[in-house]
Amino acid sequence: MKLQPARSIAGKLRLPGDKSISHRVALIAALAEVSSEISNFSTAADCASTLSCLRELGISIEQNQDKVVFAGGEELSTPRRPLDCGNSGSTLRMLAGVLAGHDLTAELIGDASLSSRPMRRIIEPLEMMGAKIESNDGKAPLIVHGSSRLNPITYKLPVASAQVKSAILFAGLNATGRTTVIETSPTRDHTERLFNGFDVPVTTNLDHSVTLWAQGRFVGGAMTVPGDVSSAAYFVAAAMLLPGSQLTIEGVGLNPTRAAFLSVLTSWGADISTVDVQTERNEPYGTINVRGGASGTAKDRTLSGSMIPSLIDELPLLAVVGSQIEGGIQIRDAAELRHKESDRLATTAANLRAMGAEVEEFEDGLAVSGPTQLHGALIDSHGDHRIAMAFSVAAMIAAGETEIAGAECVAVSFPEFFTLLESVAQR
Ligand code: S3P
Repeated sequence: MKLQPARSIAGKLRLPGDKSISHRVALIAALAEVSSEISNFSTAADCASTLSCLRELGISIEQNQDKVVFAGGEELSTPRRPLDCGNSGSTLRMLAGVLAGHDLTAELIGDASLSSRPMRRIIEPLEMMGAKIESNDGKAPLIVHGSSRLNPITYKLPVASAQVKSAILFAGLNATGRTTVIETSPTRDHTERLFNGFDVPVTTNLDHSVTLWAQGRFVGGAMTVPGDVSSAAYFVAAAMLLPGSQLTIEGVGLNPTRAAFLSVLTSWGADISTVDVQTERNEPYGTINVRGGASGTAKDRTLSGSMIPSLIDELPLLAVVGSQIEGGIQIRDAAELRHKESDRLATTAANLRAMGAEVEEFEDGLAVSGPTQLHGALIDSHGDHRIAMAFSVAAMIAAGETEIAGAECVAVSFPEFFTLLESVAQR
């Protein structure tokens, strides 16, 4: 994909449904007692992987564009083929939790990137609950031998991961008592909100631990998925960086465990407001307005500690924005980025340097100097959707043309990305 810089960003957008919420609501609807109609379901290839795995497990799903209807009242059955999770860590990890709680055996496979990502983090707690999981030395493929009578556990997460927390909670639906997950840093809480929203009570305690009180079955019903706030982030950042921009994004998810980048960008001088906030099954959503031209002196130019999990998917983008901030920025305590679809510390650093930025790479983060006038370059996405999109934003503010190699990987989370970017880019 070849991209020319833009003068400003202008327009009004509505975005496809949130990927994290769509995965979870698909699993919930598949397990529910009555039928569910999900509107604005994510168009991400990752969420299509979740739906196709559920179909292989015998779940009846009808899809008409962004509307997905689940029959409800069904039981999972042993699949005839391995369940292909594609590039999707969320599919593999959360589905492993679901399968752990059922009397069946299923194999979970993924692409080369997913097959290189760490899975012991789910294997350990799910085996403590009584499932048996075979793996390739802690990586996919996984063969899950589940049981509908799991042991309830209290488990402290060794890594801050919403996928692991969620896998344990989905397994806990078939445990014979109370399941508690203790988090040291709070991660995205969609599973907790949606379990409650679909009538399975989960409590978040003051110490950030989460308790699922007993075995439960979801009721099902209708939901409109809010627009994906992580997809919105690219447009918000581009609009912030280009003076004269004026952008509105309607109906976008504003869950605080996901929308933290909005406060970070505001603290770096962005003019951002959120209005018309409503909720859908406990998930807040609303309208984001951005005016271009960052101003003032950035406060809090270090991102670290317990704020990292709520910024995790936006960190490559924040590193790009950081290259434009007076004094630059630092990211620390983010070694988890090395275990994403690519090693995002390495791929972010290499691509920023290719565009002329000065970057220091640490084991757990980056220091990016700023402000630097970026220049167009050949960017290697490494097949990682968030790297392709973060550097498309860099392309909007760079001097000259940028080429993104492997740009088709944006379909993993946001197939419409380049079309929408061109629709708001003013030249
Ligand atoms: C996700 C959690 C995060 C995030 C991923 C989606 C989720 O991963 O990076 O894109 O939907 O729970 P981890 O749980 O591995 O941190």
